[in-house]
Amino acid sequence: MKRIKIEGGHKLTGSIKISGAKNSAVALIPASILSDGEVTIDNIPNISDIDSLNEILEYLGAKVAKDGLVMKIDSSSIVNKEIPEDISKKLRASYYFMSSLLGKYKKVEMYFPGGCSIGARPIDQTLKGYRALGATVIEEGNKYTVFADELKGAEVYLDMPSVGATVNTILVAVRAKGVTTIENAAKEPEIVNVATFLNNMGAKIVGAGTSTIKITGVDHLGGCYTEVIPDRIETGTYIIAGALCGDKLRVENIIPEHVDALINKLKEMGVSIKEESDAVEITATDNIKRVNIKTLGYPGFPTDLQQPITPLLTQCNGKSILEETIYENRFQNVPYLNDMGANIEIDQRKIYINGPTKLVGKEVTATDLRAGACLVLAGLKADGITTIDNVEHILRGYENIIGKLSNVGAKIELDEI
Ligand code: EPU
Repeated sequence: MKRIKIEGGHKLTGSIKISGAKNSAVALIPASILSDGEVTIDNIPNISDIDSLNEILEYLGAKVAKDGLVMKIDSSSIVNKEIPEDISKKLRASYYFMSSLLGKYKKVEMYFPGGCSIGARPIDQTLKGYRALGATVIEEGNKYTVFADELKGAEVYLDMPSVGATVNTILVAVRAKGVTTIENAAKEPEIVNVATFLNNMGAKIVGAGTSTIKITGVDHLGGCYTEVIPDRIETGTYIIAGALCGDKLRVENIIPEHVDALINKLKEMGVSIKEESDAVEITATDNIKRVNIKTLGYPGFPTDLQQPITPLLTQCNGKSILEETIYENRFQNVPYLNDMGANIEIDQRKIYINGPTKLVGKEVTATDLRAGACLVLAGLKADGITTIDNVEHILRGYENIIGKLSNVGAKIELDEI
């Protein structure tokens, strides 16, 4: 078992370079098998979720070559076979393979995907997209068998702007006959990254990044090159670290527009931030103001930064209110923060954070990826030693978090026990 140990109270100074976005890369890799040629993806983050997807690629028989940040995937020899449950349940994004295989071979057998335990996370909207395009979906327990004689473009209205259902519908539609329109599509930058990748292969997708996406099916997709965009959640996590403990902490290689919702909240709190075209510099400020935050789909405040920003809200003057509208169980970090000295009340989908309170190091557990990031940030601020268990969750999504924070002055280490 691995755990992270942090001695809190040290200032963070210097630069942190942001890696490629987890939630883009985990969609680009499954999307690659729609190509009949070889694709090259640059700026792949070095995180364990990528290893899990490579396991699926290799299981299917794709040729994968990884050299540093660059991955080359040749799917010309893959075999469309059932992806076993023990592989698919390792991560949420495994179900992007379900859509790529369906889009390419008109048949797929797979199991319900995994992912952080932060709510029910149904896949009904993805299945609705499959059915709209003419597929039959047979559900037997956790297993899905999906097939079609022909996939035909259709109008798909999503009940909510789901990132996963938007990507899945695109993946099935790019090689279908005719035109598919997705209404109420999610607008996250990761979706634009996926659409650009597919268009580079020869797909015809317009409107990605807006709530209406139009896909005109093509018969063939070829080889191409693309880059993973910078990870906006990793960016936000380190910006918050800077707001807590920064002394001119630079967060580099970012697209500032992708973290506008966070930067604007921090400005509202009175945090000192300097913005450049691809970097920001943050210095922790005393006497920060209380704020209200409500999570929303992009460009609203991201749910994935809701847990990471909570330690900062414990340092605000007064009662901040944080409302989680996307997931029904994303406050599992709160009892640990309270144990560390925070004063937070949970009321269904809202938490009330009474600040400021001093944080002290404790033994805590990462219940999920972003809860883990929250506890790392709390540990950086707290007096004394914080020890975090279950850090496999954190390592799934943050490349070299120990090295990146150590380089800027944090006292943080990974222990094997
Ligand atoms: N939903 C449904 N039915 C569906 C699909 C979604 O009810 O068919 C609900 C979900 O239960 C949830 C909401 O709609 O309440 C939003 O879900 P969405 O489909 O947008 O999320 P996702 O695609 O499963 C991705 C990221 C998440 C991120 C969300 C929202 C990946 C692999 N995961 O999940 O990332 O929170 O979008 O931005 O891209 C993380 O990185 O920590 C993480 C959880």
